[in-house]
Amino acid sequence: MVARVTVLGSTGSIGQSTLDVLARHPDKYAVHALSAYSRIEVLVAQARATSASVVVVPTDAAAREFRRLWGAGAPLPELRVGSQALADTAGDDQSQIVMAAIVGAAGLPGALAAARAGKRVLLANKEALVAAGSLFMAAVQSSGAELLPIDSEHNAIFQCLPHHGRAGVPTEPSPGVRRLILTASGGPFRERKWSDLAAVTPEQACAHPNWSMGRKISVDSATMLNKGLEVVEAHWLFAMPPERISVVIHPQSVVHSMVEYDDGSVIAQLGQPDMRSPIAYGLGFPDRIASGVGMLDLAAAGRLDFSEPDLAQFPCLRLSFEALRSGQVACIALNAANEIAVEAFLSNKLPYTHIPAVIEKVLVKMQGIQPVAINVIDDVLNLDLEARRYAQQLVSL
Ligand SMILES: NC(=O)c1ccc[n+]([C@@H]2O[C@H](COP(=O)([O-])OP(=O)(O)OC[C@H]3O[C@@H](n4cnc5c(N)ncnc54)[C@H](OP(=O)(O)O)[C@@H]3O)[C@@H](O)[C@H]2O)c1
Repeated sequence: MVARVTVLGSTGSIGQSTLDVLARHPDKYAVHALSAYSRIEVLVAQARATSASVVVVPTDAAAREFRRLWGAGAPLPELRVGSQALADTAGDDQSQIVMAAIVGAAGLPGALAAARAGKRVLLANKEALVAAGSLFMAAVQSSGAELLPIDSEHNAIFQCLPHHGRAGVPTEPSPGVRRLILTASGGPFRERKWSDLAAVTPEQACAHPNWSMGRKISVDSATMLNKGLEVVEAHWLFAMPPERISVVIHPQSVVHSMVEYDDGSVIAQLGQPDMRSPIAYGLGFPDRIASGVGMLDLAAAGRLDFSEPDLAQFPCLRLSFEALRSGQVACIALNAANEIAVEAFLSNKLPYTHIPAVIEKVLVKMQGIQPVAINVIDDVLNLDLEARRYAQQLVSL
């Protein structure tokens, strides 16, 4: 039977890698829906190549642009417009698998809708779990959705844990597991002092030594805020307390992460740094399917290095652990402030080294508000908006 797949954020780096893997298995998968935000031309080409039934764009202007670029001839796919249409498409009954690959908190409603609909959710959008971990995991649990982590570290940990062919939601750490060890390349500035980074440009920050990714996650990797988001993500995915999650610098990005067991064993997952491997794993689970990724040649890799991250060199990693220990409001603030600060940096409005200062100020401010119950998605979105407003004021100073 052919499974129908919706790819949210199909025009991005993960979205394009997903379409690459799907195209290798026309006997197993067909595309139901695709979505874009600004790259309408890419969406048109993808919709033609995949014969997608539905495309989702953010505005009426984008829909007009899609129609214009599509031209006459082949019948138009069904065009849906706006963020509600995006969430509705993620949850509709026309697909069984949803790849959640929109960047940032904007990806939360779609990922949540897919989880509520009980689908197989391939979760690349880590910000959804950081901002709304408890809501998201509760939705997966109550609907019986299958949650497959796509972030390479969490995909590696999932592979190293006993899962018995099921992608359920753990409520406590797996028995015998002592610690999760996330690997981090250290990004392009691993060997430079934080104090020497004031003048780095967006192009330098986006030049990741091992992975090819979107611009926002590339900056997050340089500051290691990305690793901080992943620590929060690991906490939710594997029901692991913060003190049992650690980070180790591994510049070669060959070991994607590890699980340490009570008997002293450490199980690691290794492979090329290419997101098509975890995407293929998520699509095929529990089977293994071809991804197009070349085989790992350990003799050619030669050596694998590991070291402790220096929290003075990576203040965003320290802030992330603090936010996780502090609770959900702090995690929402961490993510929202970072999105605003990174956007300002990418538009040359904020120096690179000011990113953690903006996050820290927003964290302090948001921790001053009365504790609030987070029961529905609007609670998350309201706190997210408040944190964004304050971060925006800070970057506009
Ligand atoms: N890239 C990686 O290797 C990697 C690895 C692990 C996890 N992830 C995670 O996967 C997610 C996607 O990363 P990426 O690198 O693929 O990012 P990306 O290349 O920047 O792509 C982001 C996608 O989201 C869409 N988008 C952006 N803003 C949107 C909005 N407000 N509403 C709806 N759609 C929006 C973009 O549309 P347009 O392109 O049309 O503007 C694009 O399709 C992120 O959460 C990231 O942390 C990525």
